[in-house]
Amino acid sequence: MSENKPKKEKQKASAEPEIMEKIVSLCKQRGFVFQSSEIYGGLKSCYDYGPLGAELKRNVKAEWWRTMVHSREDVVGLDASIIMHPNVWRASGHLAGFTDPMVDCKDCKERGRADKWPVAAAGTEAEYKVIIDHQSGKKETRKAAVGALGIVCPNCGSPNLSDIRRFNMMFRTSLGSVDNIDTIAKAVEGKNLSGEELKKVVAAAIEETAVYLRPETAQAMFTNFINVQTSMRMKPPFGIAQQGKSFRNEITVEHFTFRSCEFEQMEMEYFVPPPQYADEGKDDMYWYNYWCTERLKWYSDLGIRKEKLRLRPHESTELAHYAKACSDVEYDYPWGWGELEGIAHRSDFDLKAHEKASGKRLTFFDSQKNAHYHPYVIEPAAGADRTALAFLLDAYNEEPPPPGTTEGRTVLKLHPRLAPIKVAVFPLVKKEGMPETARKIMSEFFQNQINASYDEKDAIGRRYRRQDECGTPYCITVDGQTAQDGSVTLRERDSMAQERIQVADAVAVIKKRLA
Ligand code: GAP
Repeated sequence: MSENKPKKEKQKASAEPEIMEKIVSLCKQRGFVFQSSEIYGGLKSCYDYGPLGAELKRNVKAEWWRTMVHSREDVVGLDASIIMHPNVWRASGHLAGFTDPMVDCKDCKERGRADKWPVAAAGTEAEYKVIIDHQSGKKETRKAAVGALGIVCPNCGSPNLSDIRRFNMMFRTSLGSVDNIDTIAKAVEGKNLSGEELKKVVAAAIEETAVYLRPETAQAMFTNFINVQTSMRMKPPFGIAQQGKSFRNEITVEHFTFRSCEFEQMEMEYFVPPPQYADEGKDDMYWYNYWCTERLKWYSDLGIRKEKLRLRPHESTELAHYAKACSDVEYDYPWGWGELEGIAHRSDFDLKAHEKASGKRLTFFDSQKNAHYHPYVIEPAAGADRTALAFLLDAYNEEPPPPGTTEGRTVLKLHPRLAPIKVAVFPLVKKEGMPETARKIMSEFFQNQINASYDEKDAIGRRYRRQDECGTPYCITVDGQTAQDGSVTLRERDSMAQERIQVADAVAVIKKRLA
C-alpha cells in the first residue's frame, strides 16, 4: 500500500502542462487513450484505451508476464476474481486502514488529500481570493491565519479548512439479489432516530450484503497460497503472479492515467523461507535486493532511459508496521519523480493475518528441515497504466528538420516489442501492381501474428511520419524495383536508415528484430 504514503519530493511545475498536453492530445488523435464516456461529457478519471493504446497496454502486460512468469521456473500465474469475501479485507487491514486524509476548503469547496495540499507555517497569514459574485466571477482578496493543520487550499489559497477525515478508498457494492434501498427502508421504518443512530442503522443494513471491488490484486495470492503451492508442488522460494483490474476511490486523481480510480496492476508475491530456514546466502533480504535490481532493470531493458529511472528506498517512517523494507522504482515524470512500482518486504504479515482470520493453516512444510513455517513475502507491485504512460512519455520525441529539409517529426521511440503496430506496408504509388504486392506482404505478416498496417494515402514522407508518431518501428515500401528483383525498402524508425530486403525474407527479418 505504498501509494498512500505522502510524497515529500519537491515537484516540477513548469514543464508539465506542455508535455502532458502534447501526450494527451497525441493519445486522442492517434487512438491511444480517450476520455471515458466522452459523448456524455466524460467521466472524471476514467479512460478508455483506443486501438493503439489497447495494443500498447497488452504489450506491456505481455512483456511483464514473459519476464515474471514464462521465463522462470519459480513463478506461476493466477487470475482471481475481483470481488472477494469481505473478510479478506477485514483481515488484510483494508477495511480499517485503507484510507486517505480528506479535507475540504470552506471558501471554494475544493476537496482533496490533506497530505498533498500546499504546506504553510501555522500562524502565518495566508492571502487568498474568494468569489463574491458568481455571475461575473468577481473575486475579493482576503487574509487569514494558517491553522494547526499547516496547509492551505491549492485552488484559492484559503487556510479556512475542515477537519481532516479518514476516507476509505475501497468501492463498496452489494452481492446477491438484494436492493439496499429496500433493506435500509425496512431498517428505519417507523423509528424516530437521531442522525448518529440513523447512520449506524443504515451502515449495519448495508454491511449485511457488502462486498468490495479489490483495491489491489495481491490478496488473492495470499488466500490461494495453499491451493497454488500444493496443486503446483511449489517450494519456497516461489512466486505467484497476477495481472488485473484494481479499484480505488482516490480523493485526488491526477496526471492523466497516472492516478485514476480504475487501473490495472501487475503484482507478484514471492514466498521465501524465513531467515532460520533460508539457504546459505539466500535469505529474505537477499531476495528483496534481488527483486529491486530485477525490477529496475526490466524498465531499462524495455527502453526507458537510465537517467530517468531510480530506486528510492523508503525511510523507516514510511514503512508499514509489518514491513522490513520497501523501495519504489521511480520515473522522472514531467511533474517530478514519482512511483512506477513498489517492491515491498512484507515479512510474514499477510499469511499470518489470513491464517488467524480464516482459521486455516497457511504454512509450508519443509520436509528436509522437518519444519512448518510461514514464508516471508517479497512483493514487486507495478501498475500497467502507469507503466504504459511512462513508456509513452519516455518515448516521445520532437525532432527538428534534418539539414536541407523543412519538416521535423514527432516520433515515439517505443521499444519494438511494445510498439502497437510492428510494421507498416506501403505501395509507393497506387498502380503498377504495387498495392497488390503490398497487400500480399501484409497478409504474410498477419499469418505470422505480426500486427501490421497498410497505408497508401498521401506522399511517402507523410506516411512515414504518421507511423513515427504512433511508434511503428519498421516501414516496408513496395516500389518500381520490386517487380524487377523482388526487393522492397525497409526503413527503421529511429535512425530513418533504409535498406533493401527481399519480399520473401520480410517476415523473417521483422521477426528477428522483434525477438
Ligand atoms: N499490493 C501493493 C500495492 O498495491 P501500491 O503501491 O499501492 O501497492 C502498486 O500499488 C502499483 O499500482 C503502483 O506502483 C502504481 O503503479 C499502481 N497504482 C496504484 N494506485 C494507482 C492509481 N490510483 N492509478 C493508477 N495506478 C495505480
